Amino acid sequence: TLPSKVKLVDVGPRDGLQNEKQMVPAAVKIELVQRLQQAGLKEIEVTSFVSPKWVPQMADAAEVMAGITRQPGVRYSVLTPNLKGFEAALATRPDEIVVFGAASEAFSQRNINCSIAESIERFRPVVEAARANGIYVRSAISCAVGCPYEGEIAPERVEMVARLMKGIGVQHCGVADTIGVGTPIKVQRALDAALRHFAIDDISGHFHDTYGQALANTLASLQMGVWQFDTSVAGLGGCPYAKGATGNVSTEDVVYLLHGLGIETGIDLDRLVDAGQYVSDFLGRKPNSRVATALLNK
Ligand code: HMG
Ligand code: MG
Repeated sequence: TLPSKVKLVDVGPRDGLQNEKQMVPAAVKIELVQRLQQAGLKEIEVTSFVSPKWVPQMADAAEVMAGITRQPGVRYSVLTPNLKGFEAALATRPDEIVVFGAASEAFSQRNINCSIAESIERFRPVVEAARANGIYVRSAISCAVGCPYEGEIAPERVEMVARLMKGIGVQHCGVADTIGVGTPIKVQRALDAALRHFAIDDISGHFHDTYGQALANTLASLQMGVWQFDTSVAGLGGCPYAKGATGNVSTEDVVYLLHGLGIETGIDLDRLVDAGQYVSDFLGRKPNSRVATALLNK
């Protein structure tokens, strides 16, 4: 049986915008967060406290966090790759932080400039400080099924990183198909590997839609009992260190799927489409979502 309720984290303001070439003003990011919460999103990944030399688009992280109007019942998360990022993030009072590692050595080097083992040592004091401050710690394991540099990734690699993350006190494991190459059984194997160290309630799927498999992968995850997913409004996004990878599966498409399955999300699809159109208009393109396109053309 499928879960009766699903939690979606909209990562659009972060994963969605981090790779945009044109600078998106903080005010637009803040308005996007506002529209997402008005659409009923209860979890929003707002920004990342990373090096502005590496990801210029996220240089306004503190400004965006300071500018959002917090709504009771909504949780706001941010990415923190190291203590420097965590300290800057802490001042902006996030509910949750994300430490992001990878199941691929080559991707770890390209994305965060260190090996997998070094990344865990870098995350250790971040996790400790976050938990001491009562901040929930989520992890992301990039390239959980495939890597742009190493090709296919074995589930054992995911199992290893999940074990290391658990060992430093991380509370939640996000299994990420960074470049959207996964197909249902491969994704289920990666989730199974993470499930060896994290409970089903502490696991989420983060699927990019490069090859159009993300909805199928979402359904395959639901069938395992996974009920938490990262999605991106208007299908925004891509990782600057994963060339050619497109955005996350669009929140609109996943909401349509879930509602069609009789699963509760608390999200108003029309208002969500409006949020996606707002940011797409700013970017000068159409929303990258089949459901949004269908509803806007109705
Ligand atoms: P590094 O160059 O090895 O860092 O980068 P460093 O510690 O040697 O510091 C170098 C300089 O950066 C110093 O400044 C530091 O102060 C500064 P300088 O003295 O040269 O002027 N610095 C920072 N500034 C601001 N905030 C910080 C910070 N840290 C150092 N936190 C580092 C290492 C991790 C910082 C860098 O590689 C980095 O920022 N990488 C981030 C890459 C990134 O954001 N990627 C996208 C997000 S991950 C993703 O999208 C995947 C995900 O969606 C899941 C999936 O789909 O797979 C989550
Ligand atoms: Mg991603």
